[in-house]
Amino acid sequence: MKDFDARLFREHWHLACHRNELPVPGDYLRMQTPLGDLVVFNDSGELLAFDNLCPHRGARMFDGEAGNGPATCRYHGWTYDKGRVIVPMAEEFAGCDTSRARLNTYRLDWCGDFLFVGIAPRMALYEQLGEAAALLENIGFNIANRLDLNAGSFRCYWPVAVENALEPYHISMVHPETLGMLELEAGSNEYLGRNSVWYAPLGNARVDKQLRSLKRHFAIDYGYEGYMSVYLFPFTMISSTFGYSYSLQHFLPAQDGQNTHFSSRLLGTHLANERAAQLLAPLFTSTAAINRKVFEEDHQVCQLVPKSSWSTAPLVFPAASEAKIEHFRQSCRDWLAARPGP
Ligand code: FES
Ligand SMILES: [Fe+2]
Repeated sequence: MKDFDARLFREHWHLACHRNELPVPGDYLRMQTPLGDLVVFNDSGELLAFDNLCPHRGARMFDGEAGNGPATCRYHGWTYDKGRVIVPMAEEFAGCDTSRARLNTYRLDWCGDFLFVGIAPRMALYEQLGEAAALLENIGFNIANRLDLNAGSFRCYWPVAVENALEPYHISMVHPETLGMLELEAGSNEYLGRNSVWYAPLGNARVDKQLRSLKRHFAIDYGYEGYMSVYLFPFTMISSTFGYSYSLQHFLPAQDGQNTHFSSRLLGTHLANERAAQLLAPLFTSTAAINRKVFEEDHQVCQLVPKSSWSTAPLVFPAASEAKIEHFRQSCRDWLAARPGP
């Protein structure tokens, strides 16, 4: 199990971003992974993913979570632009061939408008996603922009955070004034290979009616009319209420083998018109604030669970609402059993 986290990362495709999160040349997004940083960068319209390390002496090129700027190393000024590395004072390097300098880039593939990054994935992207691919395509075509980005550390081992996100059993206890307000019904689970989806109608009739009345302000052609939570094995979740916005979450193992690099992004969808944008701005502001509160509430309980409380073994006392945890653990066991090599 020692290299479980790193191998899961190396051997899967990971949803890095939506096309509309990095629309402008110079846009970048940084994720922290069990193998170090991963940066997606818009290089004059072409997206690339790399390890965030300068080819000169390995300084980190970007240190914000997201933003816009040239891919220029702040140490000696090496710059990556339009597919090439530009070296200042090139005459200093008479004894070596700096034209061989490259970024350490990763493989990319698209599922609709979602960009996936892979280091050494075991399968092709669509094979890994299975039937979840069609769902992701539908979601992706409706996303317009990123409205919020919230990144930080969860003081728990990553499967603890993933399992928390996979079960609604804790909602009334942990989120009574946030997610609990929706009074989500038991709903149903759908298993798509190692990925899974929970569809839950809203039990709160007043909120349900309010949300339905907003539909005319959106220019979307997909959206589950209730609460939907998609899990992409191993580290990613996407949740949404009515498909009006999507919360994209990553629970990435930290390099220390103990903690979790958590991030959540609020992705906005296409709106009907300018007036809708003005009208809905307060809704999105409050959605971003509520999401931040929900994840803080989750963090508070996740840090109560030590790493030693987690294993891939079936739960001793599984609730019906914890079925997706059983599926996740089965997926971990299957993945471990199928691993190639020694
Ligand atoms: S380490 Fe980046 S330019 Fe020297
Ligand atoms: Fe939660």
